[in-house]
Amino acid sequence: MKLLIASPIDPDALRELHERHDVVTAFGAPEAQLLELAADRDGIVFRSGVEISRAVMENAPNLRWLIRAGSGLDNLDLAYVEQRGIQLRRIAGPGARAVAELAFGLMLTLSRRILVADSLLRQGRWAKSEMIGRLLCGKTIGIVGLGNIGTRVAKMAAAWDMTVVGCVAHPSSPRSEAFADAGIELTDLNAVLSVADFVSVHVPLNDATRNLIDAAAIARMKAGAFLVNLARGGVVDEVALARDLASGEHLAGAGLDVHASEGNGLISPLAGLQNVVLTPHIGASTVDSQRQIGEEIVRIVNEVSQNLAARS
Ligand code: MLT
Repeated sequence: MKLLIASPIDPDALRELHERHDVVTAFGAPEAQLLELAADRDGIVFRSGVEISRAVMENAPNLRWLIRAGSGLDNLDLAYVEQRGIQLRRIAGPGARAVAELAFGLMLTLSRRILVADSLLRQGRWAKSEMIGRLLCGKTIGIVGLGNIGTRVAKMAAAWDMTVVGCVAHPSSPRSEAFADAGIELTDLNAVLSVADFVSVHVPLNDATRNLIDAAAIARMKAGAFLVNLARGGVVDEVALARDLASGEHLAGAGLDVHASEGNGLISPLAGLQNVVLTPHIGASTVDSQRQIGEEIVRIVNEVSQNLAARS
């Protein structure tokens, strides 16, 4: 099999693929380079941080399958994939667990002001009396997007004795009942925004969700609430959020793992604010999750390769 590995994956998986297949690696390469590298490939493995465009796929006549080593599909021309009948395998489960855990990491960092406390301590300031945080327990969390990741966050929050409300793109009575059984109240976006002490965003980026959390949505949030985004940067209007947080009069803080512009040398419009925590799209980046994803990649590639060999 001729593979292009277009994003960093688990090193053991990469080694195994190298041993059994013809593998080319180029992590986060620009389109011009991908065009060249994909030209003779049968398959491409990719995560976020790289654009698998129509032009790249058009230039790869043998391309028959794609493995998305994670969840989001916003960096893939899905319409073209469907039109050409390219097989797409998505490995969403293992990363979802890691993203859900990081949502709590960001919420706790904000509510307990962990970064500020750490920074003061390193400067020799024992700020114990100033560092009074807030509990998550007993507060309301609002999940924007009760999909795979959002539902996991919701269930974890319920286990922490938080009141859980959330919304989905296509609500229905059966879904509402199923969520209610898990202690999650299904409601609409406006209600989620207006009652939640912590709003956690987990929707895919598409035409319907771009700038979903804009200035008007932010204005609907409760005074003193926190916003965390581990979905995609384009879902939250970062400039509007920065304006709100800089005023110091409305939201208490925000945690963002995903950003409108991602990559080396790019600075978020929120970077100057103390009540903000920023991480470089590391939601799915745990050794455990990446190892599981890696094992699944190897399994899929070997299966596809055996099927092709059996047919020829
Ligand atoms: C995902 O969509 O699975 C995450 O963004 C992780 C990634 O691909 O890096």
